[in-house]
Amino acid sequence: MLSLHSKICEVYAHPLGRDIVDKMLLEMGKPAWLVDNPIIGNLTLGAIQKLLSKNLGSGFFDAILNLLNSEPDTPDTHSVPSSPAWWKEAVFYQIYPRSFGCDDESNVLRGILSKLDYLRELGVDAIWLSPVYDSPNDDNGYDIRDYYKILPEFGTMNDMDALIAGLHKRGMRLVMDLVVNHTSDEHPWFQEALRDENSPYRDFYFFRKSDGKPPNNWVSFFSGPAWNYYPEQDIWALHLFSKKQMDLNWECPALREEIYKMVRWWLERGVDGFRLDVINYISKTPGLHDGDPFVGALMTYTGVEHYFYGPKLNEYLKELRGKAFAPHNAFSVGETPGIGTRMGRLLTDDYRRELDLIFSFDHLVSPGHTRFDDYRYDLSYLKRFYQSHLNADLGHGWNTLFFNNHDNPRMVSKIDPEGLYTRPLAKLLAVLQLTLRGTPFLFQGDETGACNVKFNSIEEINDVESRGLYAELIKTMPPDKAFRQILAGTRDHARAPINWEEHERQRGEADSVWRFYQDLIVLRRSSRALIYGKLEFLYPRKKKLLSYTRSLNGEYFYIEANLSAVKRRSKAPVGAVLLFGNYGKSGGKILHPYEVRVYRVTSIV
Ligand code: NOJ
Repeated sequence: MLSLHSKICEVYAHPLGRDIVDKMLLEMGKPAWLVDNPIIGNLTLGAIQKLLSKNLGSGFFDAILNLLNSEPDTPDTHSVPSSPAWWKEAVFYQIYPRSFGCDDESNVLRGILSKLDYLRELGVDAIWLSPVYDSPNDDNGYDIRDYYKILPEFGTMNDMDALIAGLHKRGMRLVMDLVVNHTSDEHPWFQEALRDENSPYRDFYFFRKSDGKPPNNWVSFFSGPAWNYYPEQDIWALHLFSKKQMDLNWECPALREEIYKMVRWWLERGVDGFRLDVINYISKTPGLHDGDPFVGALMTYTGVEHYFYGPKLNEYLKELRGKAFAPHNAFSVGETPGIGTRMGRLLTDDYRRELDLIFSFDHLVSPGHTRFDDYRYDLSYLKRFYQSHLNADLGHGWNTLFFNNHDNPRMVSKIDPEGLYTRPLAKLLAVLQLTLRGTPFLFQGDETGACNVKFNSIEEINDVESRGLYAELIKTMPPDKAFRQILAGTRDHARAPINWEEHERQRGEADSVWRFYQDLIVLRRSSRALIYGKLEFLYPRKKKLLSYTRSLNGEYFYIEANLSAVKRRSKAPVGAVLLFGNYGKSGGKILHPYEVRVYRVTSIV
């Protein structure tokens, strides 16, 4: 049991403690080695509480200790060889249907079907399809009105069946989005629950009576309080996301059974697995107590400690797997914001029978920044992150490798906002995605090096998150400053329509990002070392040079990347054969700006 008498180093030795301390340091922009300093490491939590008592209420330490003591397990750190699985070998590709747009087809699902040969040619094995269910689209489909119906503008259930068949015919798989932390407020469950306080659906959501103010101080991820007030019923209901995305109460067994039934229904239709939207938020600490203000200020969202790794999360995930996924041998990847690598292991280690993989996001934003800061991403942080998180001591843990999705500005633009090095950078990221240890998830547009979009005014922004934040910001700052922040972080950068002409052009161009991805995927597919091989990082102190090896059964690769726009020396071993590079295959002693190279090493001289 950890208590106020425990030292910082003891907290850090606990898997949750380590992730929480890392996350706090990250938010504060402080380096992780602070904890290794014996003076700091030996401080007890009680001493820190006294030192900081002006800023920290006891609620902060209670919340942290409760979290830590709720998880007795630690990830298995033995270097157990990974058991092979199709999803470790596959290359995934995320489709955001609203902007995948294939206008010559009658609807979006038919359009996707018409592009399967194209995706197969690129080397894609499995698709993650963002929501296509019936929805009022307050959050572009992440607000589901009917889990059993396709959004009419996207197609019909027949089109869905045709898509599943089309994928399977090509040896590809389909992973759908599973949004079960919340439903739309237009879902019949919510509608009935609101109308009738005796309805069995009342217990499916978090309804609370409260006089004149929200039942607690939690804030929504999309700005403002996390509670809606319904005057006719004089009742409040919880929504962690938009006002139309109502949180589901997983404590209610009947709700959980409805969800498992729905998941089985889709799996019986032929779907191969799910990406589980914000799945780590499904268990909320009973009582829904106020969030600690210090945690709120540090993590931006007050209340988050009460649900980001809730007390029954593991229990619910095990049940979901046992009752729905396991009978179909289905694949699961959880979207888990705020979960670090060690906690991630507790959600994914196979002996725990919870999830197969998770997406966590700490590598997408440099320390001390948030997505909405206008700053330049520093790739040397990515090197530090990978060195400490992808390392071999993580035993049989398996990672997801991605830089983009529908919730983030484009990574190439974060690193190089002027767009001077888009093409080499896009290829550099491609190499990392396809040669590090983990499963690559490409997002539509990665294969052409898609950049951020130019938006001229807030009217051009569609995203509910950005619009909510803008409305908040202009209360305290001039509109042009508020708009600059929105531009830095808006999710609409990733949601711009695909430029199919560019895709076709690059497909035919020998030196394109598209062809580079295609060739790299062929290489990865042909080599067990690049998938299951050992990963070793070299030159840990060279901030701007990322270099590592992958090896298995005598097969050996050396990969190096210049993480800056300044030239530097290559460290490639003599005798290594250059297979790939974003500056051609000539090699040489000097690495150009953002140059990346993949070598095969047969004998080291
Ligand atoms: C995560 C999804 O990726 C995002 O697009 C959505 O807004 C929230 N979850 C809420 O569903």
